[in-house]
Amino acid sequence: MSTTILIFGASGDLTQRKLIPALYNKYAQGQLAGEFNIVGVSRTSFSHDEFRQKMQQSVKEFSKYYDDAKWSGFAAQVWYIPADANTIEGFEVIKSGLVNIEEGEANRLYYLSVAPFLYESIITNLGSAGMHTENGAWRRIIIEKPFGTDLATARQLNTITHRTFHESQVYRIDHYLGKETAQNIFFFRFANTIFEPVWNRNYVDNIQITVAETVDVGSRAAYYDKAGVLRDMFQNHLLQLLMLTAMEPPSSFDADKLRNEKVKVLEAIRPLQPDDAILGQYSGYLHAEGIAPHSSTPTYAAVRFNIDNWRWRGVPFYIRSGKALKAKITEILVEFKSPPHMLFDMKEGNRFARNVLALCIQPDEGIHLKFEAKIPGTAQAFRSVDMEFHYQDAFSEPISDAYERLILDAVQGDASLFTRSDEIEAAWRLFDPLIAYAENTSQQPAIYEPGTWGPIESDIFLAEEKRRWRKSGCLHDED
Ligand code: BG6
Repeated sequence: MSTTILIFGASGDLTQRKLIPALYNKYAQGQLAGEFNIVGVSRTSFSHDEFRQKMQQSVKEFSKYYDDAKWSGFAAQVWYIPADANTIEGFEVIKSGLVNIEEGEANRLYYLSVAPFLYESIITNLGSAGMHTENGAWRRIIIEKPFGTDLATARQLNTITHRTFHESQVYRIDHYLGKETAQNIFFFRFANTIFEPVWNRNYVDNIQITVAETVDVGSRAAYYDKAGVLRDMFQNHLLQLLMLTAMEPPSSFDADKLRNEKVKVLEAIRPLQPDDAILGQYSGYLHAEGIAPHSSTPTYAAVRFNIDNWRWRGVPFYIRSGKALKAKITEILVEFKSPPHMLFDMKEGNRFARNVLALCIQPDEGIHLKFEAKIPGTAQAFRSVDMEFHYQDAFSEPISDAYERLILDAVQGDASLFTRSDEIEAAWRLFDPLIAYAENTSQQPAIYEPGTWGPIESDIFLAEEKRRWRKSGCLHDED
């Protein structure tokens, strides 16, 4: 039976930059097996060929596998239906368009790549048009982020979604889970014996997760000034990294067992208080086009999480993310405890540093282990050295874009890397109070200069706990 991937919001940016290039790449690599049709839907009026030409430009720009012959093969299965998915009449148009394309019963993956305010009406219309029912062929739906803007709206969207689709048909996307290196956290921890015994409060002093971006708000003011860094990055991507780092091993690699363990982490996180966070805003943000004149939206945050369970009690997780920072880097640093007794002479100018394991999520994907070693020719001097693993040296296979993996997983019915309804609600439940505080406090966020690692207050925050942000374990120009 053939499969139809129907993309709502086909004339949008995500479809052009990510979705169609991802699907094309999978096709070019022979991994989009079987018969398939890709159908774009949006209000703009294109013919099938006009849409194909537009997508060809995107694939030329965003795929490293572009090839004329392969494109022709792929394009023959790409279609376009101009329709207003916000209306039930629009769905009549979509339904009759599909009859011509599918030629019989077909599986369907609906992809909502539209502005979030349209999610509810499209989902409801899919139901009213009977396009959700599974009569021998499956129906699934991918919903893009943001899934709600707080617990109440996420719950409402879940309720509306569940009126039409069963939870097993729903795939809420968080593209961080599609990153190879994020998935590798799981393999690193549970496919090896040597790290897991020390992965707990007995050996780990603290964990630091950094998702730093050099880009600023750019042209996204309308969205970003309402969202801020807590909604844009923390409630989703950063929490996912935290969950993968902190979760217990499930008994098998099964979507629900895995997600059960992730939800347990969220449930064990102590409710966040205002003094668990430092909020910042880069200097110049207020002058960006479209930003409210006195906006107090945070573009940076550093948040301390305490996980009250057997494994992590007493081990703080410090998590920071921001725009307009010094480097683009996503990394997880596990800082181990100091040895119980220092038997070396610290007077020789020795600068002791605790062992750090760095999981480099991007851009230089790999793992680094910093440990102390004796400096040759000295009696007792030592310093930190680095043991490195880089994906690009170890594997000939390229690291593919997160969307390639996620779309394929949804086609194959594997929901492991998608967010379940209870998980998304637990994540909002955790962040709602902190977001409410950030939005209502009279205290302005701390200002930081673009091109730095954020506000000085964030360094003081850790210094008060007798810790410091460890220099990146993944960037080469940091020590
Ligand atoms: C998106 C956020 O979800 O993730 C953006 O909306 C952010 O603000 C982006 O820039 C970061 O993704 P990545 O894959 O570049 O780290």
